[in-house]
Amino acid sequence: MTEKDVISRGQQYIMNTYGRFPLVPVKGKGSYIWDINGKQYLDFVGGIAVCILGHSNNELNQVLKEQAQTLWHVSNLYWIEPQVAAAEKLATATGMDKVFFCNSGAEANEAAIKLARKYFYRQNENKYEIITFKKSFHGRTMAAVTATGQDKYHEGFAPLPGGFSYAEFNNLDSVKEVINENTCAIMVEPIQGEGGIQPADPVFLNGLRKLCDQEGIFLIFDEVQCGMGRTGQLFAWQDYVVKPDIFTTAKGLGGGIPIGAMIATEKAASGFAPGDHASTFGGNPLATAVASKVLDIVSDNTFLDNVKAMGEYLYQALKKIGDRRIVDVRGKGLMLGMEFNTPVKELIEICIQKGLLLVGAGTNVVRFVPPLTINETEVNQAVNILKEALREWKNGLS
Ligand SMILES: Cc1ncc(COP(=O)(O)O)c(C=O)c1O
Repeated sequence: MTEKDVISRGQQYIMNTYGRFPLVPVKGKGSYIWDINGKQYLDFVGGIAVCILGHSNNELNQVLKEQAQTLWHVSNLYWIEPQVAAAEKLATATGMDKVFFCNSGAEANEAAIKLARKYFYRQNENKYEIITFKKSFHGRTMAAVTATGQDKYHEGFAPLPGGFSYAEFNNLDSVKEVINENTCAIMVEPIQGEGGIQPADPVFLNGLRKLCDQEGIFLIFDEVQCGMGRTGQLFAWQDYVVKPDIFTTAKGLGGGIPIGAMIATEKAASGFAPGDHASTFGGNPLATAVASKVLDIVSDNTFLDNVKAMGEYLYQALKKIGDRRIVDVRGKGLMLGMEFNTPVKELIEICIQKGLLLVGAGTNVVRFVPPLTINETEVNQAVNILKEALREWKNGLS
């Protein structure tokens, strides 16, 4: 098939839910992908913060191949060796106790919401409300999209599940205004991703922890995007030194294999008993064998130190770009955002034409979530392409 064939047949047969760029990637290696015409791109999107070890990583390929030749899937009617290994690694690296595996970020958040509610139901307490934040993003299933504090994702899907209220991110007073005797949990991204790469203020996260302790309710962190080494810690909350009762992750956990996880303390996890929640595919041997290897690689301090160093290197390089349309550069580790005073779609298109893949976060923010394995040469290449693209981009100059 030619590029034109793939796109036109895709438009005919694939449901129209994505605004896609006219690009057909067919191969990836390390920080690069190649399209169907053989053109090379430096990938600073990494499948939207998923391919944390780059494309076609040799160690992951090896594990995948071995597991594929051994056992793919059996269901959770049985004990699964790689699932147990991955759970143990997640629990010991975080000081948490129990893990539930699923297949995506939205599902992990659904599981967290259900666990919080079920826990208080079992305690005979009338607590079911979840407080989330404006500009948050928690996924597209009905509860996760309701938890998402952005009206545009709710439009047309009413009636939405009840029991959600929204506070202002980084504003503890606004949380105190909505908290009440029915609140069972506060759910927050330590660094808002889709909402424009906004790190939580440490005082705010600490304040949420204190508030949850005072009220006897759960603090849930959504680390679907900011977790798995992205910030230079295995999970962003470890950097804030604010421990949740429940947290979720997905994206980078499988390095490209679909998998999500909801991780909880013993106390919170006691909310679920057999039959309360399930997933046919959740934690299957193929996905967890890969995730287990990803965890080995990413948990290593040398690996994490390199993420911090590359994050700082990229941040400094971005800060140095002198363009009066740039409003802010922010983020943590290799989760950075560059905010402009105008929409960035066209800038991203120019970068793609020039061989650099970037993605937006909201309308005015360019997001940088490259593989965590990038090096200085690749960062320099990305920044040079971005500078060239900025020279060509006319928006917001007049
Ligand atoms: C913070 C956060 N939570 C949840 C999700 C949803 O994850 P998924 O698309 O795997 O369902 C995303 C996806 O971008 C996310 O960034």
